[in-house]
Amino acid sequence: MAKPKLLITRKLRDGVEARAARDYEVTLNPSDRLLTEAELIEACRKVDAVLPCHSERFSAEVIAAIGPGLKIIANHSVGTDHVDLAAAKAAGVVVTNTPDVLSDATAEIAMLCMLGAARRGAEGDAMIRAGKWDFWSPAFMVGRQVTGKRLGILGMGRVGQVVADRGRGFGMEVHYHNRRRLPAHLEKGAVFHETMESLLAVSDVLSLHCPTTPESVGIINARTLAMLPDRAILVNTARGALVDESALVAALRSGKLFAAGLDVFRTEPGGNPEIAALPNVFLLPHIGSATEETRDAMGARALDNLDAYFAGREPGDRVA
Ligand code: DGY
Repeated sequence: MAKPKLLITRKLRDGVEARAARDYEVTLNPSDRLLTEAELIEACRKVDAVLPCHSERFSAEVIAAIGPGLKIIANHSVGTDHVDLAAAKAAGVVVTNTPDVLSDATAEIAMLCMLGAARRGAEGDAMIRAGKWDFWSPAFMVGRQVTGKRLGILGMGRVGQVVADRGRGFGMEVHYHNRRRLPAHLEKGAVFHETMESLLAVSDVLSLHCPTTPESVGIINARTLAMLPDRAILVNTARGALVDESALVAALRSGKLFAAGLDVFRTEPGGNPEIAALPNVFLLPHIGSATEETRDAMGARALDNLDAYFAGREPGDRVA
């Protein structure tokens, strides 16, 4: 039987590409150049399946332009905000993602962002690299300690739960808001807040772990930032769209926020130059899941979903 035709839009780990080439008639992208929208549509018209990343947008228009040949979008990401799920469903295109396997890696980056922001990591690093470290005193580069502080987690899904565990390891008191309260064995003593507003009021450090939906876009804005304790720290390793970046800049400038640690931005790649010009931020270029182990696992999970689909089984991680 002919192998299904598969497009992999970005450079993946060698082992993942080798497995794909064994089981599919695969089109790879060895140069790793981001396809234009027209190139993506053209390439998807020629295949049965596509394995994209969050860098490729499948809007309703793109899905319609691809037409009936494409059967499945097997994402190499847990986030699916780059795919119009309703349009995919209406067009009969199956969509899957890669949950679970990136929770540890993303939680590590959340902790890095938290500590980098609280302890002024970027400022210190930049000073030494610029040859400007010419002073030391007990009053020098004093940051905020996270031990004993209240860690507020907005969105207590898989990543949020691992961040809670890491926070406990740092002696933090965990609070959370989630659509549903977790059972006791997952809550592990964390304090549940019925409303986001109640969570914000106690979050010395607020870490975002909710998906991007029409309701959550801009959820962190001037109004909600004002609800945080003074000199709070914001951590975002989820999606840039959750934050109104102008309001964030204002809160960082005024001192309402002590600092922010960000791995995601509204504009990617690139980030926000106004945020990057501030001293009290610790910034990373969307690398939450970028470890060797996790990239291997994400690739395997996406291929498992494809294998299930083409074997006539329900893919484990179907989202549409
Ligand atoms: C995800 O999986 O959603 C990460 O942001 C990487 O794409």
